[in-house]
Amino acid sequence: MIHARIIGTGSSAPKKVLTNHDLERMVETSDAWIMERTGIKERRVVERGQTTSDLAYEAAHRAIKAAGITAQDLDLIVVGTLTPDTAMPSLGCVLQARLHAKKAAAFDVYAACSGFLYGLSIADAFIRSGMHETILVVGAESLSRFTDWEDRTTCVLFGDGAGAIVVQRHAGKRGILSTHIHSDGSLGDLLHLPGGGASHPPTHDTVAKRMHFIKMKGNETFKVAVRALEDVVQETLDHNKVKPEDIDLLVPHQANLRIIQAMAKRLNMSMDKVVLTIHKYGNTSAASIPMALDEAVRDGRIRENSLILLEAFGGGLTWASALIRW
Ligand code: UT7
Repeated sequence: MIHARIIGTGSSAPKKVLTNHDLERMVETSDAWIMERTGIKERRVVERGQTTSDLAYEAAHRAIKAAGITAQDLDLIVVGTLTPDTAMPSLGCVLQARLHAKKAAAFDVYAACSGFLYGLSIADAFIRSGMHETILVVGAESLSRFTDWEDRTTCVLFGDGAGAIVVQRHAGKRGILSTHIHSDGSLGDLLHLPGGGASHPPTHDTVAKRMHFIKMKGNETFKVAVRALEDVVQETLDHNKVKPEDIDLLVPHQANLRIIQAMAKRLNMSMDKVVLTIHKYGNTSAASIPMALDEAVRDGRIRENSLILLEAFGGGLTWASALIRW
């Protein structure tokens, strides 16, 4: 059986830390509110001049090193991001140039917080089809550049970072067992970034109306997220004929601790089987899952043959999951 197997992981976070107490000085909020409603204590933010590709490059470099290959071995680069350095070229192409990955085709996947799992799904399909052999999948974001630092309902949530994995064709039982991706564009208004695209190109007016920042109806998004994630997790278990107790580790998108706890409860899973990074990184969108994966690989929580469940929900709306035999 041919599988796409993850052979290396890497991650990167900016050095600059923004704590809840820092935010208390910027908007009307409190450390207690943020901790209670989200589980976030602090997040990392890029510094002036630092870009998403800087974070993506560092994470990719580490994943390639961990995989024991060189960038020249890559034949495809897929990047999940909603905050590329530029609308064109893609972050994938910027990264390909920086890595000197001359053999690799490169492109971005635009699925917000589900971007990494959408990218993983593409990599899995391309490897199974025989089209590609060694693929770099990255999730990288600088959400702080698109955060309205005067809007307390969103600015406490987001952070910056990047994670990367190398997946390779593997004839055997280990690897990605299945991926599941879904969308509901009719609910796009719940979580969106209205300015900067073809419908509202940047003008003084769009800037004055703060249209270049992420907007979210948090409470409504929360409810849809819990329902959609429950469904996609069940779909994944059913598809693989796996029971919740078979799962060794849950690596969820880190949007809200309460959403993560709801999923763990649904799976009847104790929280020590869940990888949490939200307290220190906040919601890093497409980067959150590969960052958490890398942490769990490096601290030994993920071992050979571990059964790992990944799930994400984000703007679009989009949601996704994957089951991996490590
Ligand atoms: O990653 C993509 C997917 N994202 C998600 O799935 C995130 C989903 N949503 C959430 O995580 C939560 O809905 C939030 C953390 C965004 C908000 O938590 P909530 O429990 O849903 O709060 P809420 O929006 O219902 O607001 C409750 C109250 C409001 O005050 P009133 O109207 O009850 O007087 C807000 O104005 O909390 C107020 N509030 C704040 N208070 C202090 C909102 N933001 C803040 C804040 N500090 N930062």
